[in-house]
Amino acid sequence: MNSSNYRGLWVTFEGGDGVGKSTQAEYARQYLRSIGRDVIRTREPGGTELGVQIRQLILHGKGDIDPHAEALLFAADRAQHVRAYVKPNLAAGVDVIQDRYLDSSVAYQGAGRDLDPEEVRHLSVWATEGALPELTILLDLDPAIAAARVGGRGAADRIEAEPNEFRKRLRAEFLLQADRDPDRFVIIDARLTEVEVAARVRAAITKRLLSR
Ligand code: TYD
Repeated sequence: MNSSNYRGLWVTFEGGDGVGKSTQAEYARQYLRSIGRDVIRTREPGGTELGVQIRQLILHGKGDIDPHAEALLFAADRAQHVRAYVKPNLAAGVDVIQDRYLDSSVAYQGAGRDLDPEEVRHLSVWATEGALPELTILLDLDPAIAAARVGGRGAADRIEAEPNEFRKRLRAEFLLQADRDPDRFVIIDARLTEVEVAARVRAAITKRLLSR
């Protein structure tokens, strides 16, 4: 599905932990609101009732989770989220600003773990019947800087506790995905100040709206 068939605009934010996705997603929501659009913010994992439970299982469950099981749990969350929440809102003309989507699975479960990134992608494509956002903002940051930011607030969950090598693979995989799909992705250097990043996000969103 090409999400531009819907009236609502679907924008996702991607990147490693500590790059400022939530802050920028909130600025983007405020911007769309300020130009008179209906907009909601959501996130994966966790955008639905089922998703909240899956989020708890994956991020705060006890004991190790097999990488295949982890990939399936993220995909299950995504399937529910897209059908029960994202698509109905887009169809009703509401813009959806979302923290993380399938690119996170390809990077974290694919490149980050031992699974094949393409297989992980296929799993999510199956789960969502190929639903893709119109715009994906990749906030790109050196993992050492991001780790220092996250470190400041302490590793919040099982995945944030992964070592630096993992973060380097993540960054490379996100950049590779952006490279492969330049129509959907806009890469923004997350070393810029919050205000500068927000201005670039606004510019990317405006451009997308004008090109519809
Ligand atoms: P996030 O909600 O961004 O973290 P927080 O709110 O704690 O800042 O994401 C939670 C973690 O889940 C994050 O480390 C990335 C990871 N994740 C995956 O591994 N695969 C996925 O498909 C998604 C959506 C997230």
